[in-house]
Amino acid sequence: MKIAVIGTGYVGLVTGTCFAESGNEVVCIDKDARKIGLLEDGKIPIYEPGLQELVHRNHRDGRLFFTTDLVKGIGAAQLVFIAVGTPQSGDGSADLSTVFAVADALGEHINGPKVVVIKSTVPVGTNRAVADRIAARCKHAVDVTSNPEFLKEGAAIEDCTKPDRVVVGVRRPEVATVLHELYAPFLRTERPFLVMSPESAEMTKYVANAMLATKISFINEMANLCERVGADINDVRRGIGHDVRIGFQFLFPGSGYGGSCFPKDVRAVVSMAKQVGGETAIMEAVDRVNENQKSVLARKIRGHYGDHLRDKTLAVWGLAFKPRTDDVREAPALVLVDFLLAQGCRVRVHDPEAMANVRAQYGDRLVYCDRPYGALEGADGLAIVTEWQEFRNPDFEVMRRLLKERVIFDGRNLYEPRIPVGFGFTYHSIGRKTGVPG
Ligand SMILES: NC(=O)c1ccc[n+]([C@@H]2O[C@H](COP(=O)([O-])OP(=O)(O)OC[C@H]3O[C@@H](n4cnc5c(N)ncnc54)[C@H](O)[C@@H]3O)[C@@H](O)[C@H]2O)c1
Repeated sequence: MKIAVIGTGYVGLVTGTCFAESGNEVVCIDKDARKIGLLEDGKIPIYEPGLQELVHRNHRDGRLFFTTDLVKGIGAAQLVFIAVGTPQSGDGSADLSTVFAVADALGEHINGPKVVVIKSTVPVGTNRAVADRIAARCKHAVDVTSNPEFLKEGAAIEDCTKPDRVVVGVRRPEVATVLHELYAPFLRTERPFLVMSPESAEMTKYVANAMLATKISFINEMANLCERVGADINDVRRGIGHDVRIGFQFLFPGSGYGGSCFPKDVRAVVSMAKQVGGETAIMEAVDRVNENQKSVLARKIRGHYGDHLRDKTLAVWGLAFKPRTDDVREAPALVLVDFLLAQGCRVRVHDPEAMANVRAQYGDRLVYCDRPYGALEGADGLAIVTEWQEFRNPDFEVMRRLLKERVIFDGRNLYEPRIPVGFGFTYHSIGRKTGVPG
């Protein structure tokens, strides 16, 4: 098939590349000329494991193209995907201005019958609005379908090529058949292809993220309570997870969720409900609990050093909102960094992939260290915010030599407390007793 993907970000570049990988001819379109220039030069503007190799191969083999020119990009396409951003607007609702600008441009320039596929996460009713905007400007038969994306940054290729399910919202069954043909290579192990109305497809994406965010805020609230009553959240997790109705997945306590999806999508659900006179007490609480949780390490750090934070140096491991990505949008680590800077601390940071994005925001207000141990040199303590694999089994002997004070604030419960404590560390974690060397 000939496909155009408008918006070449985390979702557009990954899905476009995966469609090319299964033999389709794909044009990725973006208004950001820098991004398109990098891609044409063989450089990948984001970090996503495995993506570079796929982009190179498909670009080289003439199945994957990049352009800033929408009119040229959509010219030959049968399917046009919209994968532009839908960030949070001032009142918490999803900002649809980019989606609508693209819809208007499509209406102006579509040159024949096409299927437009909305992949961006959009509130219920957007499918209808996009269809109306295109129809108002265009005389060709255009089907507008909704196909929400469920990929996770850090595992995006795997999620895209082996999805748990594909959801499509269509007004005509024939359009579902076209999309099924496109997705067939990814569904070979009997993965479900679920056809529904566009409204239900739009809602499915929000309900999925709402549930996942709820699980995180739930376990964080329970972890905080464990600390107060002297229980250990890890033991409690084991105690509940064997109940198959509960399970273990996505129930890890931490420093709160971040990223470009959960925070804005939870707020968009609240806003959507308000617009139709509905209630979302759980979603409002999920958001509030999460905002509070993002400061959990800051509170522990203040509790440890008291009023003597000024002139301390803190090392921070992990800046990305989750491991295996360079994405720092709404990252809990940045809430901690802001707190430390406001207290007058010096901050030495390390992240395997996200440093360039953080440097673009913070400039020389932070000390950027290429290696995790480098960040510890002369620091008064270490805070861990993102659970990159390489932080899981560190050399505590080296760490204790480098740190001025042996204290770790672990926002992801990476260690069995007895291990750092055995090396003489005071070990703060989430939902567990503070480990103190005896
Ligand atoms: N990032 C994720 O993990 C993820 C997962 C599932 C769904 N989503 C949803 O997918 C959508 C895209 O998210 P993302 O993370 O890929 O965003 P992103 O910010 O990484 O990418 C969006 C891209 O669209 C481009 N763009 C903006 N306006 C444009 C225009 N008029 N014409 C062409 N290009 C334009 C931007 O330059 C940018 O490159 C959002 O709705 C998001 O909620 C994201």
